[in-house]
Amino acid sequence: MEVAKKILITGGAGFIGSHVVRLFVNKYPQYQIFNLDKLTYAGNLENLMDIEGQSNYHFIRADIADEQAVKQVFAEVQPDAVIHLAAESHVDRSIKDPTAFIYTNIIGTVNLLNAAKDLWKAEHRPDDLDKHLFYHISTDEVYGSLDNGGFFLETTPYDPQSPYSASKASSDHFVRAWHNTYKLPVVISNCSNNYGPYQFPEKLIPLCIHNITHEKPLPIYGKGENIRDWLYVVDHARAIDVIYHQGKTGETYNIGGFNEWKNIDIVRLLCQIMDKKLNRAAGESEKLITFVKDRAGHDLRYAIDANKVMHELGWQPSLQFEEGLEKTIDWYLSNEVWLNNVTSGNYQKYYEEQYG
Ligand code: NAD
Ligand code: TYD
Repeated sequence: MEVAKKILITGGAGFIGSHVVRLFVNKYPQYQIFNLDKLTYAGNLENLMDIEGQSNYHFIRADIADEQAVKQVFAEVQPDAVIHLAAESHVDRSIKDPTAFIYTNIIGTVNLLNAAKDLWKAEHRPDDLDKHLFYHISTDEVYGSLDNGGFFLETTPYDPQSPYSASKASSDHFVRAWHNTYKLPVVISNCSNNYGPYQFPEKLIPLCIHNITHEKPLPIYGKGENIRDWLYVVDHARAIDVIYHQGKTGETYNIGGFNEWKNIDIVRLLCQIMDKKLNRAAGESEKLITFVKDRAGHDLRYAIDANKVMHELGWQPSLQFEEGLEKTIDWYLSNEVWLNNVTSGNYQKYYEEQYG
């Protein structure tokens, strides 16, 4: 693929998106990076304070569910490529109120696909479309739950179980349909659970770090026996870089680090590490563990077979889980201001100061 000059990254103010934007802005000064984000509760421009002001970074506040707004962004930016991460991402919220997931994850994705199709077809002959790329970031949750062993392969049939995963599965299907029907050059990756700096403290790991710090209860759904496959967020961003540049159009890549953990074991490990860091007696934080009512329709186990991205594209995770957890805990302990801002809604003030 030719060098893409203007890349539109959606959801760049969120957890994973901010790591992807940072990596692309710093590593590829020849690219102009446009971060399109609505700044929901999960989007915070403080995540990108270190690159704010760099000449190849631009921020646009827009809602991908708003068709006109998306068309306008495409008319103004004329992106050569899209890396699409914007989404409603939390399963528990999707159970309480699925509507936003349908608007953002499904309609928002279709708005972006249409805008890319129209712009790129208008600019080029249809057979010249491969100069462009629509890269859709998805999740392993589209494959459902591995209750009887095995791993998720790229060929595993879709079987989404939660409103969140149903909305992501739907968006994946639309991306493939636009490739099949309109020859839009697309690539999809499905990643396992991410953890690391800048994750909103509603997800298991940052929630527990926050609650251990403040000696609050650690809510474990059910018996804590559900299994997730964890990857450090910077390693996900590195995989996205590799797939963006070397992935084959029309292909799907599963991303994961072969790192399965039961929830209860992760929470115990966090307690042990944090007892040492906070100078607490061994076993002190574990007393905060509280078993609560299980999540409705709680998927039992996720586990990614990442052999394709590893062997075909040469990507490997760089960190062991214990190392990644240490880094993550240290980051949260030294970024209490960020944590207070995102939990109190104060981060909106930062946006107003920067962008009026
Ligand atoms: P996040 O919730 O931290 O961030 C989502 C971002 O999207 C936020 O900045 C938010 O403001 C923005 N956004 C939401 N609705 C929008 C809209 N209508 N218009 C424009 N912007 C909007 O999510 P995340 O954890 O960083 O996940 C990013 C992507 O990666 C998602 O597509 C998610 O499905 C996928 N994914 C996440 C994980 C994970 O473990 N977090 C794993 C695999 C895949
Ligand atoms: P989460 O971080 O919400 O990610 P996902 O649901 O996308 O996998 O949850 C990870 C696991 O931790 C999941 O099995 C649900 C469980 N969990 C708890 O036990 N307690 C909590 O407070 C949260 C947020 C999650």
